[in-house]
Amino acid sequence: MNKRILTGITTTGTPHIGNYLGAIKPALNLSKEFDESYFFLADYHAIIKNSNSSEVQDSVKSVAQAWLASGLDPEKSNFYRQSDVPEILELSWILNCVTAKGLMNRSHAYKAATALNETDEDKGITMGLFAYPVLMAADILMFNATHVPVGPDQIQHLEMTRDIAGRFNHIYKNTFSMPEAITQKADNIILGQDGRKMSKSYKNIIPLLSTEKALKKSIAKIITNSLEPGEPKEYESCTVFSLYRHFSSSDEQESLKEAYKEGISWGDAKNKLFEKVNSHLSPIREKYFELDTDVNLINELLLSGAKKVRPQAQELLEKVRDSIGIKSIS
Ligand code: TRP
Repeated sequence: MNKRILTGITTTGTPHIGNYLGAIKPALNLSKEFDESYFFLADYHAIIKNSNSSEVQDSVKSVAQAWLASGLDPEKSNFYRQSDVPEILELSWILNCVTAKGLMNRSHAYKAATALNETDEDKGITMGLFAYPVLMAADILMFNATHVPVGPDQIQHLEMTRDIAGRFNHIYKNTFSMPEAITQKADNIILGQDGRKMSKSYKNIIPLLSTEKALKKSIAKIITNSLEPGEPKEYESCTVFSLYRHFSSSDEQESLKEAYKEGISWGDAKNKLFEKVNSHLSPIREKYFELDTDVNLINELLLSGAKKVRPQAQELLEKVRDSIGIKSIS
């Protein structure tokens, strides 16, 4: 069987270096070892959390730009927008009908949302949020992906996908293969300005696609302790150092450790980080700005990506519909 890698990014907000280091870059690197790769923009997942239509639309553009500017080759991989492959939604409904409600009750994302509610535990919970893992299962099973690179917070969703696939295979016939999650090591978590995991919900992001000036400003906002220049500093618990690790060689890291011991000022340490991030991101930024004025190209690439994968989706869906009895009467 072909090895197929698949991953999606929900299109809410602008991509940040956490998305780049944690999802885009590793996925693109991994794709070299796979026969086929599927990278998509999860815009139907976006409307679960965001009802601002222009934000959803803008985010589709910037997430697409992030993938393309980071080196995704639309000739070699399948690159599409979830909403351009309506077969996924049809499969999602069918999967809903074999998914145990109890399985969804156990979803961390759903439990975290209900935990915020005091009296009415269902306050603000939509069916979309509740069934989020089913749509994600449809994304994955639609193309019988074998490997799915995801963040640690998505491992449970992959287990649910396997569970749902197994239920379908058991009730009907063996149709879906069991996808495996590929996760990064826990010490690889990308920290944001406040030292917590970089995330748009914490508002602590360093943008991937910004001007040099904005990047500098955003690095200047990283929170440090108040040690003065000349005072020795620790690198282990330092957000600046932790980010520096992702953009530098081990020799460079050793020399920054030395500088910490010798009391480098926070301003200088942040400058060193800025230099590294900036030189890494420059080519990406260039490509991004190029694409920025070529919306038609982005639209075309996405549409032709969908055109390429839909026959495959249709073929699988045909089999599924046949298995469940949605077919012409005989
Ligand atoms: N749920 C993922 C996230 O928020 C995005 C996503 C949607 C996804 N469908 C997927 C990831 C399928 C991998 C495979 O990060």
